[in-house]
Amino acid sequence: MAEDIGTIMVEGIRAGDEIQSEFILADIRLGQTKNGHAFVGLKLKDRTGSIEARVWDRAEAFGRAFKNGDVAWIRGQAESYQNLVQVKVTEARTVLVETIDWTRFLPCSPCDPEDMAAELARMIEAMSDPHLKGLMRDLLADETLMASLKKAPAAKRFHHAYLGGLMEHTVSVARAALAAADLYPFLNRDLLLAGAIWHDVGKTREFYGGPLNDYTDEGRLLGHLVIGVAILDEKLARRPDFPPEAALLLRHLIVSHHGEYELGSPKKPKILEALALHQMDDLDAKMNGLGDYIRRHADESGWTDYNRLMERYFYRPTGWSSASGPLDEDGPEGPVGIPDTSAVSAEPEPPREALSSAPESAAPAGPEQQAEPFSDSKVSPSITPAQPRRSTRSETADCPEPRRNQLSLLGD
Ligand SMILES: [Fe+2]
Ligand SMILES: [Fe+2]
Repeated sequence: MAEDIGTIMVEGIRAGDEIQSEFILADIRLGQTKNGHAFVGLKLKDRTGSIEARVWDRAEAFGRAFKNGDVAWIRGQAESYQNLVQVKVTEARTVLVETIDWTRFLPCSPCDPEDMAAELARMIEAMSDPHLKGLMRDLLADETLMASLKKAPAAKRFHHAYLGGLMEHTVSVARAALAAADLYPFLNRDLLLAGAIWHDVGKTREFYGGPLNDYTDEGRLLGHLVIGVAILDEKLARRPDFPPEAALLLRHLIVSHHGEYELGSPKKPKILEALALHQMDDLDAKMNGLGDYIRRHADESGWTDYNRLMERYFYRPTGWSSASGPLDEDGPEGPVGIPDTSAVSAEPEPPREALSSAPESAAPAGPEQQAEPFSDSKVSPSITPAQPRRSTRSETADCPEPRRNQLSLLGD
């Protein structure tokens, strides 16, 4: 047996294994044998990959009880069928959503969320302005919000699209904001830092989380900029002495951080701190998203296919720059995974992050038009080893390369 019963992951399943474990159900379809016997075909998924399965007994009842995206406890037997391993499901039980450990199913930030939260707290404690400092302390004291911030992805796809990605992105933008404030001392350091930490807080209510990571109704109808301002106003309501101008400027930083109308900001940045925040946010999204893109799409020549969103090919230098981290062959923790997008919702998403700077129609004419932007759709499913989460104890939360979307349930 490859692993202990109850903890087996998809990547560890071998023919002959007895399976008793939780999986996400995907691609459920009802079929019929030549003899007229009904069966259910489906895929069992976790963060390490997916595997075909069949339900031969009480297939119709199974089809009525479960739908794509459900998490179920499965008992079964792994068998070899036409040189592929397939699971014969003998028992399936629903799993209460509250009891699900999503880290089993979804890719995670390699950074410890508690370390990242502690770094945010240190940044806030170093603030000078008593009003902004108090307001940001209120944010940290909101346990429900902080729990979501630690868990939520930063986006549905393209950048930091994994559990803990929102906290990772927030800390990264906050670090960049402090660096910008050091470089340009005429900036209001506390306002910029507050905006950096608050800019995507609305995403805690924009996404459901869970296997399909879809948008909430509030996310679809309002978006995280408006939700972020609403959360800010909830906190400000309990601080009647908060300077009105500081509140106004902080709201401006939140609503303008996407930079352009077509990217979802109702106002363009109109103070330097807002301009700096927009640049830091855009930079961090691109470093993460494009780093992942180049790593996954560059071939032996070092070149990627054409990226229509950015309107260029990207190149991964080989040789002397191999120590540059994000462009390493495999990242610091070994091979990265290739996403399997088969369980992903096909529903279009609302206007997304600043990374979406060019509509697809903006791609130039010619053969390059055939190429895919940031799309995961061209890659093949594969199963890759999981990487352990790291915990760091350094002064700053040390984030190694994110574990890439081994199972792209968050993406697309
Ligand atoms: Fe945003
Ligand atoms: Fe952001």
